[in-house]
Amino acid sequence: LNVLSVASEVYPLVKTGGLADVVGALPGALAPEAIHVTTLVPGYPAVLAALEGAEMVHIFHGLFGGDARLLKGKAGGLDLLVLEAPYLYERPGNPYVGSDGRDWHDNAIRFAALARVAADLGLGLLPDLRPDIVHAHDWQTGLAPAYMRYSGRPHAPSVMTVHNMAFQGHYSRELMQVLGLPPHAFSLEGVEYFGGIGFLKAGLQLADRITTVSPTYAVEIRTPDGGMGLDGLLRTRAGVVSGILNGIDDSVWNPATDPMIASPFSAENRSSRAANKAALQTRLGLEVDPNALVFGVISRLTWQKGLDLLLERLGTLLGTGAQLAILGSGEPWIAEGFVDAARMNPGRVGMFNGYDEPFAHLIQAGSDVILVPSRFEPCGLTQLCALRYGALPLVARVGGLADTVIDANEVARAAGIGTGVQFGPVTADHLEAAILRTADLWRDRPYWKKMQANAMKTDVSWRRPAAAYARLFRSLRAEAG
Ligand code: ADP
Ligand code: GLC
Repeated sequence: LNVLSVASEVYPLVKTGGLADVVGALPGALAPEAIHVTTLVPGYPAVLAALEGAEMVHIFHGLFGGDARLLKGKAGGLDLLVLEAPYLYERPGNPYVGSDGRDWHDNAIRFAALARVAADLGLGLLPDLRPDIVHAHDWQTGLAPAYMRYSGRPHAPSVMTVHNMAFQGHYSRELMQVLGLPPHAFSLEGVEYFGGIGFLKAGLQLADRITTVSPTYAVEIRTPDGGMGLDGLLRTRAGVVSGILNGIDDSVWNPATDPMIASPFSAENRSSRAANKAALQTRLGLEVDPNALVFGVISRLTWQKGLDLLLERLGTLLGTGAQLAILGSGEPWIAEGFVDAARMNPGRVGMFNGYDEPFAHLIQAGSDVILVPSRFEPCGLTQLCALRYGALPLVARVGGLADTVIDANEVARAAGIGTGVQFGPVTADHLEAAILRTADLWRDRPYWKKMQANAMKTDVSWRRPAAAYARLFRSLRAEAG
């Protein structure tokens, strides 16, 4: 079975968040299920530079204002189709925003072009590369199911996966013609969304199946809070919505072989975890103290991640004698708070303001706890890495965080289960209570060690999620005949 996966980012070539990790991991995860995935991505400079054995398979004359070429090749171990369209993608830096931090003015067209090409392939443009399923990720590719549907021709069935409901791609209705959408598509049953064109809305409305990245988020997005305007639509389509948890690449995230950490360790032999803790403390200028409970954070710094709540209750955290290690980049109002906190609490709070993959590995290996106080979290990957590295996740009870961590409540403690701490609702008060509860658990070192062992034995691989995607793809193909 052949799947065309289409997305605006893919690890290890372009990444702004977990979307790239997932798009990059799915092909490898699905290979053992006898599913072959080809990934279609825009020809950003970094993608073109990495592409090996490129072969041109098609020329598009006049694709949204220019001529584009479709290249087939390999990079990062992936089978790629790359849309080379310099007038759309040959720009430095981030895939979505210019150096001034603002969205590229033509993002509607840049991503409509990507979706258009995915749809053409789903319509059989290239007989040798005809997919059985078109799998679209997030708003950038939401028009792919729409273009197929409005062609009026036979096409591959489609799956729309939502990684984050907060980004929807909402544009003016004046673009209908430019985007090549027929006038009748501008309707409630089509692409119309609050008087404009909704890219994600179109995908959710017109795809054959909808998935999101955890079972709890699949429920949350059908509520007004979680649906962010699309909950009504998702309730009417509830029968085709499902939640499939993400996994992590357990060869990249393996503490026994990880070259980016100070000292390897495993579930059976955790003694050299201490060396990683010392290395982390040294690196961030924290007091080197094996008994200080180290809370770690690895995150984009945005409202979603709830880290402003942590800043609010930092006093409580430090009051327990704990330390805080932060790696984050994003919005200045949050970043500056942590930079200031580090300045005011030398030896107790350490902040690296930036994006640094190797350092993310060291924080996982050296922290005792990984904090994820998100206001919403479709899945979340850092808590999965944390489980694998024996850093106990302290998480908000939302989305995928709720689905992946077993709270160490009294029953769990008595039964010797538990892999972390959950709190809810997501307020500063409840976060504070969870921090105090975690400090309390830290004092019960035998149980802590038990939880650490439980965490490290949790299956966070792609095995189960891949089987779920495989079942979905197979049933969809069977249905499509
Ligand atoms: P989201 O996609 O919402 O940002 P996820 O938890 O799904 O959240 O994925 C985040 C990914 O980005 C993880 O792989 C995490 O390790 C990585 N990451 C986030 N911030 C940083 C950072 N400052 N430096 C390095 N890696 C980071
Ligand atoms: C989004 C979500 C995150 C999820 C990731 C991959 O970025 O914010 O929760 O893990 O996509 O699906």
